[in-house]
Amino acid sequence: MWSATALLSGVAVTLAGVTVGAAAVLPDDEPSPAALHLERATPLRELAAPHDLRIGASVQHTALAVDEDYRRVLLHDFDTITLENELKWAEVHPRPGVFALDRAEEVVDFATANGLRVRGHTLVWHQQNPPWLERARLGRDQAIELLRTHIETVVGSFRGRVAEWDVVNEPIDPSGRGLRDTLWRQMIGDDYLSIAFGLAHEADPEARLFLNDYDATSDGAVFDALIDLADELRRGGVPVHGVGFQLHLDGPVDVDRLARQVARAGRSGLTVAFTEVDDRLADGAGAAAALRQARRIAGVAGVCVAEPACRAFVLWGLGDAYSWVPNAFPGYGAATLFDHQLEPKPAYHVLAEVLRTSGDGAASPVRSGGGR
Ligand code: G3I
Repeated sequence: MWSATALLSGVAVTLAGVTVGAAAVLPDDEPSPAALHLERATPLRELAAPHDLRIGASVQHTALAVDEDYRRVLLHDFDTITLENELKWAEVHPRPGVFALDRAEEVVDFATANGLRVRGHTLVWHQQNPPWLERARLGRDQAIELLRTHIETVVGSFRGRVAEWDVVNEPIDPSGRGLRDTLWRQMIGDDYLSIAFGLAHEADPEARLFLNDYDATSDGAVFDALIDLADELRRGGVPVHGVGFQLHLDGPVDVDRLARQVARAGRSGLTVAFTEVDDRLADGAGAAAALRQARRIAGVAGVCVAEPACRAFVLWGLGDAYSWVPNAFPGYGAATLFDHQLEPKPAYHVLAEVLRTSGDGAASPVRSGGGR
């Protein structure tokens, strides 16, 4: 399998007999769109740094292994990654007592070798669980022991290398009213949340621990409930450090409400991360839709830059070719900052402009919440 450090340790990488340096130059000397981007654009991470803000992207093991432009664009623009699938139960815990961490290890090794901050995703979720777990109807004590084994093994394996974890993903009922009725809640009870966070904190006391969710309600009820849940857990002494707002956009965003929610979370001492930002468009939607998409992504980015509690802005998918959207929403796509050739789209340029000009380019106020 590929070696992360050998891939991009600062030396020129030989590609099919053509030695390439900072920019991938194809045999016909026609630079790829990605190569031109690398030569021309100020990295997003550099534009975000004065705001004490991290810019990230979810990454996929296969894309990292096979796509040199993907690796180069990632390292050019981003300082943070989320493993999109490689740390989920279905990937790492395929059979009872059997752990498969090699793909996650290679992604984390690549990140470590290149100074990228790593978000671990996710320790507890109602999706992407292996069939054996979906079928299991364990008693409370058995389920707690299984959760302990999983979290101790997975978090422990990456202790000190994964800076923050989405400990529980999507705990709120999509209506915003109460907890989602998931297999973990059914097996353990409502305290599955505090147990999971306690186990994660024991396994890596330095890692920042998050609740993460999306909000498809018309009134922001899920994000409000997520903040309330985090507050309630923290009042009980549970080590919840932050909340992740996924922000899979598919239409207008109430940025004023979002800003109020981020500010409220910050007042509670919570760190906020925008964890899975993308904006799906109908196939063939055209240039006007791409500009509307740019404005939506810029709108949420503007909230994250302006609100000190927001510490990370993470895109979901690096390039439309690697986006989850076409599989999940047939007839939709184009949800990321880069097209299929990893050429930046209007959303990239507008995001860069927001970062460049927000707060008159000066550093944003000292941000609340903890780093690593
Ligand atoms: O790993 C298997 C592979 O062995 C098999 O050959 C292949 C074909 O069936 O499927 C592969 O699993 C796929 C997995 O991604 C890894 O590539 C699943 O089918 C596919 O459903 C899964 O989709 C992921 C989705 O979560 C699952 O709900 C997306 O890539 C991922 O972007 C998406 O991410 C979630 C976040 O984790 C949580 N927030 C919502 C977001 C979008 O659903």
